[in-house]
Amino acid sequence: MPADVRFGVVGLTRGLSFLRLCEVVGGARVTALHDTDEVRGREVAAEAGATYAPSMAELLDSDIDAVVIASPVPYHSQHAVQALAAGKHVLSEVIACTTLAEARALVAAVRASDAVYMLAENYRYLDEVELTRRMYADGRFGEVYYAEAEYLHDCRDLWYAEDGSLTWRADGRIGVYCTHSIGPLLYVTDDRVASVSAVAVPGGRFDPEVSAPVMHLLQLRTDAGRTLRVRVDHTSPRPHQMAYYALQGTAGAYESWRGNGDRGKVWLADSHERSGCYDAARWHDLDDFAERYVPERLAAPSEAAVSDHGTSEYWMLPEFLAAVRGERPSPIDVYRGLDYTLPGILATESVAARGAAVDVPDPRGW
Ligand SMILES: NC(=O)c1ccc[n+]([C@@H]2O[C@H](COP(=O)([O-])OP(=O)(O)OC[C@H]3O[C@@H](n4cnc5c(N)ncnc54)[C@H](O)[C@@H]3O)[C@@H](O)[C@H]2O)c1
Repeated sequence: MPADVRFGVVGLTRGLSFLRLCEVVGGARVTALHDTDEVRGREVAAEAGATYAPSMAELLDSDIDAVVIASPVPYHSQHAVQALAAGKHVLSEVIACTTLAEARALVAAVRASDAVYMLAENYRYLDEVELTRRMYADGRFGEVYYAEAEYLHDCRDLWYAEDGSLTWRADGRIGVYCTHSIGPLLYVTDDRVASVSAVAVPGGRFDPEVSAPVMHLLQLRTDAGRTLRVRVDHTSPRPHQMAYYALQGTAGAYESWRGNGDRGKVWLADSHERSGCYDAARWHDLDDFAERYVPERLAAPSEAAVSDHGTSEYWMLPEFLAAVRGERPSPIDVYRGLDYTLPGILATESVAARGAAVDVPDPRGW
């Protein structure tokens, strides 16, 4: 293995941010690119000093160690399976797959390959998520029995291709894009979703042709008996909030910022005023705890905020590189990636069954 891990990137919209990420993180470089839009692919390759591969097969044949899969969601699992079969390590954009059959194929491909698979669930690497995880591990919230997440992102602009046809974001193929919400909650609590019941606001409200639901509301039970509530909404006209999380424990509570000047906030029984019927507990700045729990995050260089998602990808990529070098296991391997993804797939079944609870399989047993 050469000093730098050589990457091929597939999908050159989101995939472009990976080029800059490699420069900032180091130890990785992009040597080949593939996109079905050949004109764009050649243009980006020329700028990046990389080779353009006209097909996925040619990308996998080129001199690369690993592939970043940043193609549209419906292609993730097939591209990952192809890459693993070719012995290439995989860093796959979210969500991992869209059906149970795809999930099983992905597990089989990982088991049959020596290559590393990691789901690039970047929100799990957000500073606030890491901070609250460490505070929880230190007992500051007591036992967390309830948690919430919301991903609210008005993506209606992305429904239409240049020729007016509907894109993958609008045609209802991708189910529930839930990993940015469920991933961080499961990371903080070290838990797994056991069952999901879901309802949806049907599509067609803003454009009768768009079948993708306006939003999904998921209620989840975990293996450890926690209750989670997750709203995923790619449609509603309103300010974005893609990283809202809340924790409720026996000894504390946390809610992330809500916009309009709000900040991440906590109330902790061990440090703050009493909470009771006649004792009004109040919120305190989460940031007050950053120096103690995430000093390395405070010391990150300014270029660490390399994408629209804070410094999350700056912390994520080195973990993948370490796994590729054999220094540690993949932190979001295929099983953990499916723990984050499968609740969304089963949520679609629950919606069809008018909100009935549906069990979420543990892919480790497949
Ligand atoms: N983790 C994050 O924060 C984050 C942020 C943005 C996007 N994403 C993910 O990245 C992926 C891509 O999103 P996007 O917004 O760039 O999508 P997009 O539809 O805007 O662009 C996808 C690119 O892939 C190309 N493409 C389409 N089909 C292809 C195929 N079969 N093979 C190769 N290339 C193909 C298109 O020409 C286009 O350049 C999605 O899975 C999305 O969920 C993740």
